[in-house]
Amino acid sequence: MLTLVACTPDPKSGKGFTLPEGDIERGQQTFAELNCQACHTVAGVTFDDVEPSPDHKMVALGGARSKVQTYGDLVTSIINPSHRFAKGYAEEDVATGGESKMRLYNDEMTVQQLIDLVAFLESHYSVVRFDPTPYGPYH
Ligand code: HEC
Repeated sequence: MLTLVACTPDPKSGKGFTLPEGDIERGQQTFAELNCQACHTVAGVTFDDVEPSPDHKMVALGGARSKVQTYGDLVTSIINPSHRFAKGYAEEDVATGGESKMRLYNDEMTVQQLIDLVAFLESHYSVVRFDPTPYGPYH
C-alpha cells in the first residue's frame, strides 16, 4: 500500500501556484501606465512624470530589503494589498482603518499585466528568489 501522508502538501499552501514567465520590460511599462510610481519608488529605476500621491508616504520596492520575502508575498501584495502591510512604516502612513492605502487594481488589471509586473518587480528585489513549481504531467 502507498503511504501518501508525508509528502501531501497542506491543501492551503501556496505550493503549485506559479504564474507563467513575464516580460520585465513590459512590466516596467505596465508599472508606469498604471501609475504605480505615484506611490512607489523602485530600486534602480527612474520614472518620468511622477506626481506623488498626497496622502501617504512613498513605499520603496526592490533592493536588498527583506520586506517582500517571497514570490507569494509579491503577487499577493499586488492583488490583495491589505493581506498585510509593508514593514518599516507606521501603520497610519500606509493604511487607514486596517485597509491598505494602495488602490485595488483587480477590476482593471489583466492577468498578463500582473504577470509582467511581477517579473519586473522580482528582477529588482535581491531577496526574492523563486523556484517555479515543476509541473509534471497530470494523470
Ligand atoms: C495610492 C497609492 C498606491 C498605488 C497607486 C500603488 N500602491 Fe502599492 N502600496 C501602497 C502602499 C501604501 C503600500 C504599503 C501597504 C501595503 O503593504 O499594502 C503598498 C505596497 C505594495 C507592495 C508591497 C510592498 C512591501 O514591501 O510589502 C507592492 C509589491 C506594491 N505595493 C506594488 C504596487 C504595484 C505593482 C502598483 C501598481 C499596479 C501599486 N503598488 C500601486 C500604495 C500604492
